[in-house]
Amino acid sequence: MNSRRNFIKKSAIVGAGISVLPNLTYGFSTKKDKLKVALIGVGLRGTNHLTNLLQREDVVVTAICDVDPVRIKIAEEHIKKHKNPKVQVFGKDDYDYKNLLELKEIDAVIIATPWLWHTRMAVDSMKAGKYTGLEVSAANTLEECWDLVNVHEETGSHLMILENVNYRRDVLAVLNMVKQNVFGEMIHFRCGYQHDLRFVMLNDGKSAYGKGVEFGDKGISEAAWRTQHSVLRNADVYPTHGVGPIAVMCDVNRGNRMVSLTSHATKSRGMHNYIVGNGGENHPNAKVNFKMGDVITSTIETANGETIIVTHDVHLPRPYSLGFRVQGTKGLWEKDGDRIYIEGQSKKPHEWDDSKEWLEKYDHPLWKKYGEHALGAGHGGMDFFVINAFVESAKENIAPPMDAYDAAAWSAITPLSELSIENNGEPQDFPDFTRGNWIKNKPYNWMKGTF
Ligand SMILES: NC(=O)c1ccc[n+]([C@@H]2O[C@H](COP(=O)([O-])OP(=O)(O)OC[C@H]3O[C@@H](n4cnc5c(N)ncnc54)[C@H](O)[C@@H]3O)[C@@H](O)[C@H]2O)c1
Repeated sequence: MNSRRNFIKKSAIVGAGISVLPNLTYGFSTKKDKLKVALIGVGLRGTNHLTNLLQREDVVVTAICDVDPVRIKIAEEHIKKHKNPKVQVFGKDDYDYKNLLELKEIDAVIIATPWLWHTRMAVDSMKAGKYTGLEVSAANTLEECWDLVNVHEETGSHLMILENVNYRRDVLAVLNMVKQNVFGEMIHFRCGYQHDLRFVMLNDGKSAYGKGVEFGDKGISEAAWRTQHSVLRNADVYPTHGVGPIAVMCDVNRGNRMVSLTSHATKSRGMHNYIVGNGGENHPNAKVNFKMGDVITSTIETANGETIIVTHDVHLPRPYSLGFRVQGTKGLWEKDGDRIYIEGQSKKPHEWDDSKEWLEKYDHPLWKKYGEHALGAGHGGMDFFVINAFVESAKENIAPPMDAYDAAAWSAITPLSELSIENNGEPQDFPDFTRGNWIKNKPYNWMKGTF
């Protein structure tokens, strides 16, 4: 742990040499050496962020907020194990986070609460002048999407959507291939969230991944809040793990934008079958009607003429896969099957190469540099990178790699898919959250090896 702390300190000095040296020379740095960070929501995800923050020399965790005293106790125990000073604690009621936001000393805030709290907390945090990190998905309605953009513009406070999949090793290697034109001109993408979540969305109220078929007041962690979305909404409620990486590959909001979407939903069987299978047909939850279709498929058109198929599939038995496919005029990557084909370069015409060699050849500079240190950070290492990008951007108070406009555009898939499904697949227009600026915005430099 300590070696990771020291490593981050040393490599930040070496890696950030270009930005640090001018500051030393001219002596007017606005870059903070130590970022004072607060966390709102220290459930499973927030605690993961907390653990990664505590391992950094350049962060002081200053305050935490959670309405569940059990989670506060767990967080405090983590904090005690580190050199971090004692934190201020909030959470006496649902709105105590506002008292946390009044603390002048806090520079940055990470929000990892249930979805319905995301936008209002992020808006309050930006209004309080904090550099704000927001878990996925960022917003639930189009109005909330606009709130994120409007408040960012009104206050000048930055918002980063904490989409960790953008930092997955294979995703970044494929992005490297996209940027080096290996696939040619981009044409088509597939992605989604395909994860059997029934053991998370239904539990026994004691253990988050336990047995049991309870949810709402009788469930804990995501069963306490996520499942109700499946009862009441027929929409892709979790689009950003898939669309975040793809949006970066095709420069959404920076030279391109998502223009329209059509969505279709299947019938709903998975949740009911799981409840009957594990709780019996007389369990009260066996009577619950789940409005959300088991498989939701959305097709997005971009201004530059690509299509993106996004799938939401969390109620049926299946192994985990985000189902990526990245296809251009010269070839394609498919995650399912771990295969790549590039015309004229693959070993045989019309036959797949194993993706391994390609992904190693195009390994992203960030992974080359930090990979071994990132691996213990959660979700195969990508959690280290998303927190690293947040902290480094916040220390300089510069626009993050994934900003308020990205948060809005990616999250808009939820309400737009809901509208389309309700209207038999009718196309829905994406609002242009950049107000036309996507035409001149330049892509963020994802290939720099710092963050
Ligand atoms: N990026 C990823 O890989 C990833 C993984 C898991 C979860 N998430 C996201 O993180 C968020 C949290 O998910 P989780 O799994 O940690 O859920 P969780 O239920 O374990 O944690 C949420 C926490 O928020 C607290 N909370 C609720 N209302 C609050 C309020 N008003 N003030 C303060 N605290 C409040 C709860 O008590 C709970 O401890 C969700 O948005 C989820 O989608 C992202």
